[in-house]
Amino acid sequence: MNIKIRRLKLTHDLLATLGDLLEACLEFYQKTSGRPPDPSAAYAMLSFGPLHSESGNCYTYGIFTDGVLAGVASVTRDHPSLRSLDFGVTLIHPGFRRKGLGRRLVEHILKDQGLPRCIDRARAVLQGLQTDHRSFFKGMGFQQVSPGHLCPEGSPSDTQVEMVLSPLILPHMDDPSAFMVREKHMKFIPAAVATYYDEPLVPLAGKGSRLVDLDGKTYLDFFGGILTVALGHAHDRVTKAVIAQLQRLSHASTFYPTIPMVELAEKLIASAPGQLKKVFFTVSGSEADEMAVTLAQAHTGNLEVITLRHSYAGRTVMAQALDGLSSHRAVQSQIGAVKHAPAPYCYRCPLRLDPKSCGTACARDLKELVETTTTGRLAGMLVEPILGAGGCIPPPPDYFAIAAEIVRKHGGVMIADEVQTGFGRTGKMWGAQHFGLEPEIMTLGKGIANGLPMAATLCTEWIADSFTSRTISTFGGNPLACAAAGAVLDEIKEQDLVANSAERGKELRESLVRIQRQFPRMIGDVRGVGLMLGMELVRDETTMNRTPATEAVSQLMEETRRRGLLIGKGGLHGNIIRIAPPLNVSAEEIEEGARILMKSFSAIQGG
Ligand SMILES: Cc1ncc(COP(=O)(O)O)c(C=O)c1O
Repeated sequence: MNIKIRRLKLTHDLLATLGDLLEACLEFYQKTSGRPPDPSAAYAMLSFGPLHSESGNCYTYGIFTDGVLAGVASVTRDHPSLRSLDFGVTLIHPGFRRKGLGRRLVEHILKDQGLPRCIDRARAVLQGLQTDHRSFFKGMGFQQVSPGHLCPEGSPSDTQVEMVLSPLILPHMDDPSAFMVREKHMKFIPAAVATYYDEPLVPLAGKGSRLVDLDGKTYLDFFGGILTVALGHAHDRVTKAVIAQLQRLSHASTFYPTIPMVELAEKLIASAPGQLKKVFFTVSGSEADEMAVTLAQAHTGNLEVITLRHSYAGRTVMAQALDGLSSHRAVQSQIGAVKHAPAPYCYRCPLRLDPKSCGTACARDLKELVETTTTGRLAGMLVEPILGAGGCIPPPPDYFAIAAEIVRKHGGVMIADEVQTGFGRTGKMWGAQHFGLEPEIMTLGKGIANGLPMAATLCTEWIADSFTSRTISTFGGNPLACAAAGAVLDEIKEQDLVANSAERGKELRESLVRIQRQFPRMIGDVRGVGLMLGMELVRDETTMNRTPATEAVSQLMEETRRRGLLIGKGGLHGNIIRIAPPLNVSAEEIEEGARILMKSFSAIQGG
């Protein structure tokens, strides 16, 4: 159910008395419902404290459902915070009987919001209600109200503001809804579901590179969810494609071939590298990686898979086994067939060698890994061309050539996890192209549909053919997601966004290097290509003290947020900043982001 709350055009004179308010409500009820005022519409009334309408600070809100006024609530801004709520009145339409609206209001006011001085009055009011009213409150279940925004005085959309009911009783008038969303998030979403920032940000809307939060603050979004909003927020082409598809057909399942599914498959294959000619559509990157491993196993008849330490593959059982970051593994790995090779992490070489003279020893080490920890018969190796969640770690240029030779010699296939690196993110269409890697299987996700849930596993014909059992997916190849992904691909191609990613990425990288020069102690490494960039923060690079500066990254994120820039973080120790603007980011936006970063570093280190 959508509850719309609109600011009523009531003059303060009308609010002079409660009677006037009731009358105005009932009148409005008649107008909007086309029915005569129904006395039972004023089903319950809660009143706390005096009405301060004469102060000119009284706000009155109508609560609408299906276009019909269901109730009215009025609050005063006499005091700096609504903790001192002076007045609230609610007329509850009978239609709300089962919705629990009244009970929630009472509960919030009495308990959650801690308004002790109202409690006695409220009790008295409640006791005054007839028995059936009391059982009415008791018997009601709660139904969620839609998120929205509290309308500040003088807002242009005076009569059209949608908001949650809760702001009426929130402690801070300045950030009412965000507070409530965070409260509810804390209450209902498990703590394991990590959020950024000391006080999590509540996104409300976005356009292009800009994101607006529920407090009305606008940010330059250089992380796009998690590198997912590839074309920026609310991209017109994507929106149009999805709406058009939504009006035709929103679901079919893989039991039916649909136009958006086959069109997208054709486009993906046309842009995919090498011999990748078949697509399994999935819903998440985890599922795409899981599918890829299953395919490799089905094709080779072998089970053992190599992956990299510091990699991230997702949160299904197989994906967690593949994860090279213990921080993401909830339980002990249940799949012994997964072996983790040392990451090609030159800044922190796992073999303690000098990257300039090591001869890519980490790749050569794979031979011993296979010979000592496997049967010697591999299903394959799953690799992110650039380790993303692990902290934006590109391998040495010849890493994959050496690795692929060893893997293929032992019967395995190469799986490129392009969930982060795909679709132009790195300044080439596919991350693997930077390293001359032609995978037999490739997984996609994140930016593929600009934020709609979609992923895919591409493979060669002969690998697809060796998957002989039946497989279905309820949501894989969903028409809406396919329509969005088709629009994303067309836009990337027509606007040459891969080139833009390369150029803007180069500019941003240069800026990051300049910032590093300014803060040489804290910024140990700047790395990445295209618009997938990272900065590793350490205790003191000048003395080679590379202890991860985890706290500094948290502080920096707070500072960038304060200045209106959103970035991400990663790495085993959370000490790596990750920056990933949309592919169509402008040169001006890159400059703006770099300026904010510079100022934010100054704020945390002084300089
Ligand atoms: C490289 C890579 N693979 C797979 C995944 C898992 O994707 P999802 O979160 O859609 O399951 C992620 C997610 O961050 C990822 O970065």
